[in-house]
Amino acid sequence: MKFFVDTADVKEIRELNDLGLLDGVTTNPSLILKSGGSIIEVTKEICSIVKGPVSAEVTATEYEKMMKEAAVLARIADNICIKVPLTLDGLKACKALRSDGHLVNVTLCFSANQALLAAKAGATFISPFIGRIDDIGIDGMELISEIRTIYDNYDFQTEILAASIRTVNHVKQAALIGADVITAPPATLRALVKHPLTDKGLEAFLADWAKTGQSIA
Ligand code: G3P
Repeated sequence: MKFFVDTADVKEIRELNDLGLLDGVTTNPSLILKSGGSIIEVTKEICSIVKGPVSAEVTATEYEKMMKEAAVLARIADNICIKVPLTLDGLKACKALRSDGHLVNVTLCFSANQALLAAKAGATFISPFIGRIDDIGIDGMELISEIRTIYDNYDFQTEILAASIRTVNHVKQAALIGADVITAPPATLRALVKHPLTDKGLEAFLADWAKTGQSIA
């Protein structure tokens, strides 16, 4: 399973990348707003840090304009993945951008049929929004499971990128179902390592080690 971080915070991206945890990055207009920077400059810096796909989202809603924006975003770096919304124009742009050899992430997916359409449009990634489905009282993981079954039934190569991940349990469930990628906020990625028994065990080992009076290096 690949780990993407869902942020446009360059400092966080640099730190997680240095830990060797990152396979890619996802951004969106809300995350660019939060970063306080220009989409071109921030995305360029992210692409210089992380080798894997960096999703940058178009903001146009109509095909021709989406394609113009995609051309600008694609020029930022070779590892740009163009993010398009799950609309008819977005799917048309997905197909065209894939034919031109670009990576494409189809975002704002909330149903299995939408995911089926994205796969038929040749999407590199489909982004189902788990947390936002949970927010309306429906189990978001059911959607990941349905998409996994459909993609496996027809051997679609589109990767399932579980997005809107809010908890470490979301990560575990997505991994158990077989999502190809998760994108999560920095804090959630860091929280994956935490276990109280690890902390307690380490504390006990270090206390005993201090009593030996030895040092290794
Ligand atoms: O990048 C899209 C997605 O991960 C957004 O998550 O928490 O705003 O629903 P959230």
